[in-house]
Order: sequence, then C-alpha cells, then structure tokens
Amino acid sequence: MKIIMLGAPGAGKGTQAKMIAEKYGIAHVSTGDIFRANIKNGTELGMEAKKYMDQGLLVPDELTVKILLDRVAKDDCKAGYVLDGFPRNIPQAQVLDKALSELGDEIDFAIDVDVPDENIVRRMGGRRACVSCGATYHLEYVPPKAEGVCDECGEKLILRDDDRADTVQKRLSVYHEQTQPLIEFYDGKGVLRTVDGTKDMQEVFEAVTAILEA
Ligand code: AP5
Ligand code: MG
Ligand code: ZN
Repeated sequence: MKIIMLGAPGAGKGTQAKMIAEKYGIAHVSTGDIFRANIKNGTELGMEAKKYMDQGLLVPDELTVKILLDRVAKDDCKAGYVLDGFPRNIPQAQVLDKALSELGDEIDFAIDVDVPDENIVRRMGGRRACVSCGATYHLEYVPPKAEGVCDECGEKLILRDDDRADTVQKRLSVYHEQTQPLIEFYDGKGVLRTVDGTKDMQEVFEAVTAILEA
C-alpha cells in the first residue's frame, strides 16, 4: 500500500501518517523529519535545508527529490509506505509518478486532510516537538505527561523554528500556491480522498481507515 498525505502545514499529516504506519505495518516517510534530523546532526544537507525552512519556503527540488527516492528504495518501504510532506508541488509529483511507473507501480491513495487556514495558526502555536526523536505534542490537544519533556525518549520539547506565527503565514501561502494544485492532480488520477481534518484525531483516523479498508 502506497499512500500520500496531502494538506496544509499543521493539518495533521504527520499525526495521521504515524498512526497509519503503525496500524498497517508500513513505513512513515516524512521529508520534513528527514530535513530536521539532518539539521540536528549538522549535516551539509541540513544547513542548506534550514535556510529555506526557517523562511517557510520549500527546499529546492534538486535536494528533496533525490532524498525521497533514496528513502523509498530502502527495505522497510517494500511493504508499502505513507508519504508525509512529499510531493509538495507538481514537478515533485511527476518525478514520483515516473519513478513508480518504471517499477510498474503506482500510488493507491492520496488523502487530503482538509483544515481551513483559521484553525491552522492555533494548532501550530500549541505544537511542541521533541528535539531528539521528532515526536509531536500539542499543549492543548496532546499534552506530554510531564511538561516540556518527551514521553517517548525523555528529551526536551521545543517550539519548531518555523512554527512562529509569521513563518506559519508564509508556509500557508506557499501551500496554497504550490501544494494545493496536487489535489486536482491526484483527483485526475482517481486516487484522491478527502477527510475533515478539523475533527479530533481519533475521528480523523477512523475516516482514514474507512478509506483504506473500503
Ligand atoms: P513539514 O515538516 O512537512 O511541515 P508541514 O507540511 O508544514 O506540516 P507540519 O509538519 O507542520 O504539519 P502536519 O500536517 O504534519 O501536522 P501535525 O500532525 O504535526 O515541512 C517543513 C518544511 O520542510 C517545509 O516548510 C519545507 O521548507 C521543507 N520541506 C518538507 N518537505 C518538502 C518537500 N517535499 N519539498 C520541499 N520542501 C520540503 O499536527 C500539527 C499540530 O496539531 C500538532 O501539535 C498536533 O498534535 C495537532 N493536531 C493534529 N491533528 C489534530 C486534530 N485532529 N485536532 C487537534 N489537533 C491536532
Ligand atoms: Mg508534519
Ligand atoms: Zn523524543
């Protein structure tokens, strides 16, 4: 099973992708998480990506596409994967399409987690992320057991650099300009499904599983 999560920044792509990967035993591939891990480790890729991420801009396709294609070629992706944050524009979708069709393969579902802009800013301001393992919390909706500390690994929780209100606005406008056209792209392929991302996480996940098991 190969799934793409579509949706605005903060729509809950990562939250749902993690639950999907656990339930169906497939890999969770997040380009944003890959970049953040590289930033944390101080790699050259991380330094380059950070310049764009901190401004709310997309990392250039030259950097992003190769990383994604290498990642999905790994063994743990053989049983399937859920892509979270890729593709993010039409050229990336076309590269993915081409790579898959060369393998005689295709995407099964592109799930759009639909959340209006008004809800997004509140979600991002409350999000806290683990500096070490990338686990995500929300001060109001998914608080950690101990304040400021990751339940999974005990490391510190921080507000992501790109979750400041002004950067969130920029990410939203980049989303509408470059990423939203993918909704039509995947609709044209007959694989688009939409879930109401304003519902609570468990309800959203029920809608997702209903789609995957239909
Ligand atoms: P990326 O990491 O992909 O960020 P994003 O798309 O902006 O999305 P987020 O991770 O912010 O949100 P999400 O939808 O995963 O929501 P989450 O589940 O955390 O990308 C970051 C940057 O990297 C980009 O800006 C770009 O620069 C670069 N990049 C990445 N991929 C790229 C690519 N392919 N090409 C070029 N550049 C790329 O949920 C958000 C919050 O809400 C959490 O606190 C969560 O707990 C809470 N929440 C989730 N669901 C619910 C719910 N149903 N109800 C209430 N709260 C909820
Ligand atoms: Mg995410
Ligand atoms: Zn952690």
